[in-house]
Order: sequence, then C-alpha cells, then structure tokens
Amino acid sequence: GTGSVKDLLGRELRDLRISVTDRCNFRCFFCMPADGDYSFFPKEEILTFEEIARFVKAVLPLGIKKIRITGGEPLVRKHLENLIRLISEFDVDISLTTNGFLLKEKAKALKEAGLKRVTVSLPSLRDDVLSRMVGRDVKVKTILMGIEEAIKVGLVPVKVNVCVVKGVNDSEILDIAKFFKGMGLTVRFIEFMDVGTLNGWSLDKVVSAKEILSIIQKEFEVEPIGRGYRGETAQRYRYKDDGLEFGIIASVTEPFCGDCNRLRLTADGKVLTCLFAQDGYDVKRLIRSGASDEDIREFVRSVWLSRKDRYSEERLTLLKEGKSPRKIEMFKVGG
Ligand code: GTP
Ligand code: 5AD
Ligand code: SF4
Ligand code: SF4
Repeated sequence: GTGSVKDLLGRELRDLRISVTDRCNFRCFFCMPADGDYSFFPKEEILTFEEIARFVKAVLPLGIKKIRITGGEPLVRKHLENLIRLISEFDVDISLTTNGFLLKEKAKALKEAGLKRVTVSLPSLRDDVLSRMVGRDVKVKTILMGIEEAIKVGLVPVKVNVCVVKGVNDSEILDIAKFFKGMGLTVRFIEFMDVGTLNGWSLDKVVSAKEILSIIQKEFEVEPIGRGYRGETAQRYRYKDDGLEFGIIASVTEPFCGDCNRLRLTADGKVLTCLFAQDGYDVKRLIRSGASDEDIREFVRSVWLSRKDRYSEERLTLLKEGKSPRKIEMFKVGG
C-alpha cells in the first residue's frame, strides 16, 4: 500500500535528501578538512541517475513531498541536469544545496532541466576568511556571481547558508545579515555541528542561536515567525523594517529532532535515517538484484517504521557521559 509512514516517535516521512557524490571541490574545515586522507566511493559503487530516479519513483508513494540534491558538492557530478530532468517528471518539489563554485556555469542547464531553487553555502564575505574556511583559494565574488546567475535564470528563492564557527567568522554575522538583506535573500546561520569525526568540533566553538540573534538585534528590530513548515530546520525571523527574513539552524542548542521527517540516500546507495547515523541500510543491493518498485518501497517503509533517531537531542547527554559515537562524515551524507 501507500500513504504516510510514521516512525517509532510518530514522525512522518516527507523529505528525501539525495547525495549524488561524496567528492567536493572544497575542503571546508568544518566538514572535510584539507589535511584529511580521503577515499571516495569507486565509480561502480555509485548509483547511476537511472538508479536514483528509479529509487525515487519507488518511494514517492510513501509520502515524499520534497527532494533536495546534495553531495559532497553535487555540481561536481557530471551532467547533473540529466538527473534533475529524470526526477522533475515526478510531482515533487526539487531543490539543491551547493557551495556555489560551479553555479554560474551550471545554473541555466539546471533550471531548464526542472530544478526549482538552490541554497548556496557562503560562510564569509572576506576572501581571506572564505579561503581559510573552505580550504581552497576561492574568491567571494565567484560565489556571488553564481548566486546572481541563479537569480537571473529563476532558481528562486535563493537561500544562503552560513556555518558559524566561533573565532573564525562570528565577527561577520551582522555584515553578512546586512549584505543579504540588501540583496533581498534569506540567509540562514547554522550552528557548527559535530557531524562526522574529522572536523575538530567542540562545544566551545559553537556560537549559539541566542548569541546570533542578539548580534542581529543590536542593529535591527526582528520578530520570530516560527518555522515555515512542520519539520523545517530553520527558525525564521522577520526584519520589521522591510519584511525580509533570515533563519537560524540551531541543531546544537535547540535541536529539532521532534519533527524530523528526512530520509537520506547516499551516493553509494544506502539510506540513512539520521545525519548522525553510523551506517546506512543498503538499497543498492536491492536495486541491482532485480527487486520490484514495491520491494524497494517496502524495504524503505520498514526502515522508517523502526526509526527512533534523535541524535541532536541526545548529544549533550552523550558528551557529558564522555561518549562519542562513531558517525558517518558529512560529505558522505550531504548534510
Ligand atoms: P530548506 O528546504 O530550504 O528548508 O532546506 P534545509 O535547511 O532542509 O537544507 P540545507 O541543505 O540548506 O541544510 C541546512 C543545514 O541544516 C545544513 O547544515 C544541514 O546539515 C542541516 N540539516 C538539514 N537537515 C538536518 C537534520 O535533519 N538534522 C540536523 N541536525 N541538521 C540538518
Ligand atoms: N556544521 C554546520 N553546518 C555544516 N555544513 C557543513 N558542515 C557543517 C558543520 N559541521 C553546512 C554547509 C552547507 C550545509 C549542507 O551544511 O555549509 O551549507
Ligand atoms: Fe564540500 Fe559542502 Fe563539505 Fe564544504 S561543506 S567540504 S562545500 S561538501
Ligand atoms: Fe533528524 Fe537526526 Fe537531525 Fe535529529 S539529528 S533532526 S533525528 S537527522
């Protein structure tokens, strides 16, 4: 059968995040530090676009309303627009999260293939800080040109993600807020998270949602407008002067597992029920062994039905107890 599926904590499956590659052209220290020694999925282990689209078709009847394409960096996967074209056949909202480096050259093809909108990560407006954060010599201008092109071709509304790390880019919070307010875009400040095990995370490098908010309130009058939809990651705020918005994603200090409705598919064909999971459930094996759509759907249904993840709500307790579970790396899950 079809319809909505609820996990053990009563949460409905609604969103699907699809990672199309574990490779990235950046080396953000908060995700994939440059000094790491990485091995990537071999080509034959990576789902083809046809396999991904087949998976989507099989699980859509479980109640999937939104699809987000992620990576690594999704735009390093060749001809990504061909996947977008396959998926846009279905009745589902489809967006993409990118670091923006290749966006200027890819935006038009993505739009024409049926992509609705993009979210671009840009953690600093200073070339030196940006380069330090992303582990590559990258100019702010390059990313801004990607954003402008996305707006021009209609991949809107464009949102901007800013991962905030204490002592690195927190002094820029107000400048960043102002800059994107001036452009009419929604920026979301993200608390630095302990994804994976390589990024040297510690609680004292987190700038809390409360601190972020109070920095912006020094200059602007704002009002909270809650979450846009049930299960949204960001808490939203509206500037009283022009009605524009910004958001804060407070996974560390104000976790939102209670409404978490996201399933993740990795590039090598595993489904994960949490960003902080240790391991996924292998669906590629099913896909490649002649399983029917219904077999795939029932497998995913059973995975979701037995789900009880709430890592972000358990984090502080685990930390206090000195427990640090093994976790999959961010660039293998796509955030
Ligand atoms: P919208 O559709 O625009 O609401 O996008 P989104 O916020 O779901 O996606 P995006 O890829 O922009 O993610 C923003 C940030 O939220 C990233 O840092 C993600 O890693 C983080 N994030 C997304 N989903 C989850 C989640 O389920 N749990 C946690 N802890 N963080 C998440
Ligand atoms: N903490 C918070 N956000 C992170 N991102 C990557 N690593 C981290 C982290 N450790 C962000 C990226 C991108 C989104 C998918 O996740 O900047 O915007
Ligand atoms: Fe690449 Fe995004 Fe990770 Fe940065 S955060 S290394 S851009 S996948
Ligand atoms: Fe969902 Fe896991 Fe994130 Fe909680 S920590 S919101 S359960 S993905």
